Amino acid sequence: MTEADAGATPIRPLVAGNWKMNGLKAALSEALAVDEALAEAGAGVAADVMICPPATMVMVLAELSGMGGLKVGGQDCHINAAGAHTGDVAAEMLADAGASAVIVGHSERRADHGETDRIVHQKVLAAHRAGLTAIVCVGETIGQRQAGLTLDVVARQLAGSIPDNVTAETVVVAYEPVWAIGTGLTPRPEDVAEVHLMIRERLCARFGAEGAGMRILYGGSVKPSNAVELMGIANVNGALVGGASLSAKDFLGIIEAYRD
Ligand code: 13P
Repeated sequence: MTEADAGATPIRPLVAGNWKMNGLKAALSEALAVDEALAEAGAGVAADVMICPPATMVMVLAELSGMGGLKVGGQDCHINAAGAHTGDVAAEMLADAGASAVIVGHSERRADHGETDRIVHQKVLAAHRAGLTAIVCVGETIGQRQAGLTLDVVARQLAGSIPDNVTAETVVVAYEPVWAIGTGLTPRPEDVAEVHLMIRERLCARFGAEGAGMRILYGGSVKPSNAVELMGIANVNGALVGGASLSAKDFLGIIEAYRD
């Protein structure tokens, strides 16, 4: 357990793997190896662990895993529960398949699909309608950081993407600087601390005790070699991991940061 700096609320960290558009059937063994390792470690891992595979694998992973408490999430959802939206996946479908959460507003969706804060806001509502926790992603581009706009950009995304009346159970925030994703670059610890503190303050101001207890994940080139340092920063309550979550060995190496 870590303590939120803004209060005495105990926060159980979350380490979530975002497989993005990776993962054929053969990759199931990596996810199941993580679940098995969690089963062996038992209470020795002081964090929740989740894998968000492609939608094609949510049901099979949810059905085969769980022995070790591995949670399964989706990577995106449509705002509607059903309808004529070829190729889209509803939050209700993810929940039906066994997911307990869904990532919304990832920078790749914002860039590839033009998702605005307004759309992300609607997706959070869709996730909640289906009983899923929404993992809401925010983060600045390199241009915005160099222009000194990081805090403004992240604060605006946060305000626009998260609806009213959410709780620490129903929303997780993931701060992912766009320039740190898949590049091997990470912000300096003091820069991560500054953004996470601002997020915590905004969440507390808006949601009170629920905001104090909300998990704020860091994402962007998290690896076994930097996990302990990144996870040790104030108001960092876990990680959203891309590339390194595809390998059980690397993902477990990151989870090690939370081994008692
Ligand atoms: P990488 O860990 O590959 O940098 O990706 C981070 C990310 O985008 C997770 O959502």
